[in-house]
Amino acid sequence: RVAFLGKKSPITLALKTLGSLDPDARKTQGAALNALSQQVQAALVTRKTELEDQDLIHRLASESMDLSLPVGGAPTGRLHPITQTKEALATIFRGMGFQVLEGPEVETDFNNFTALNIGPTHPARQSHDTFYLNATDEQGLPLLLRTHMTTVEVRTLLANKEPFRMIAMGRCYRSDFDATHAPMFHQIEGLVVGPNITMANMRWCLQTFLSQFFGIENLPIRMRPSYFPFTEPSAEVDVLCTRTKESLVLGEGTQWLEILGCGMLHPNVLANCGLDPATTQAFAFGCGIDRLAMLKYGIGDLRGFFEGDQRWLTHYGFEGVAL
Ligand code: DAH
Repeated sequence: RVAFLGKKSPITLALKTLGSLDPDARKTQGAALNALSQQVQAALVTRKTELEDQDLIHRLASESMDLSLPVGGAPTGRLHPITQTKEALATIFRGMGFQVLEGPEVETDFNNFTALNIGPTHPARQSHDTFYLNATDEQGLPLLLRTHMTTVEVRTLLANKEPFRMIAMGRCYRSDFDATHAPMFHQIEGLVVGPNITMANMRWCLQTFLSQFFGIENLPIRMRPSYFPFTEPSAEVDVLCTRTKESLVLGEGTQWLEILGCGMLHPNVLANCGLDPATTQAFAFGCGIDRLAMLKYGIGDLRGFFEGDQRWLTHYGFEGVAL
């Protein structure tokens, strides 16, 4: 461009000599030089476009990928055993007419403790190893990370006075860490509310759930008297098993394995949530989802669940939801 149109190019130099020509010659010479200059400019534009096109063609060729190539191998992502277990639990309880609900992980002291008959000085508070936040609620009490899923029962009872069945599954937090405890863990909580709910309903429901979950018809269970502040009477449910150093077989043998806590909702809890204990009964149960997954899939150490180790996930993960 500089060589043909620049200050020292033949065209520019020739244009400078026009002044010394006589008018007629200047006119023809000028027109000829202008035409030449325009021709050169047009040629330059054409060439520039050509070069840009070539560049684009080159880039398209070098940056393209062959979409017709096979992707190769099966997908490598896996469902975490917790996800798989939650799906299985949701399916079982939906089949029995339960709603599947959720609630927040940051809770009030009332929802986590006081409404559940665990008053400010109740000794059960100590066993919960609670993580408190700096932020406070409307009562000026510190907010906390829920220590159990029973909080969702309180929320549901406060919002709903009709008979209902629900489960809630989610993360809970306690300051505890070893082979069987993690500071973040998962629980399922269940609640059935109605005018004539009894412990017999509870036993049938839990036996049906455990049989379906472990895939063992009529899985033998036993209910042992226990204590929870929010239920009266309270029980723990064990399933029949044979346990050796190397293995655990459910549904046969002479030993019992503790699985979950349950009971009839305490009248104080119903009253705290604005229901009349004289006309409304409810049963509730709570259980660790991580533990259910460990038992069902033969996973020995809880810590692997939360480490995100690719080898662990590949080994214990699921390719799709298996019900
Ligand atoms: N919330 C109890 C816990 O985290 C579990 C539990 C026990 C829930 C008995 C219940 C119940 O609903 O009835 O240890």
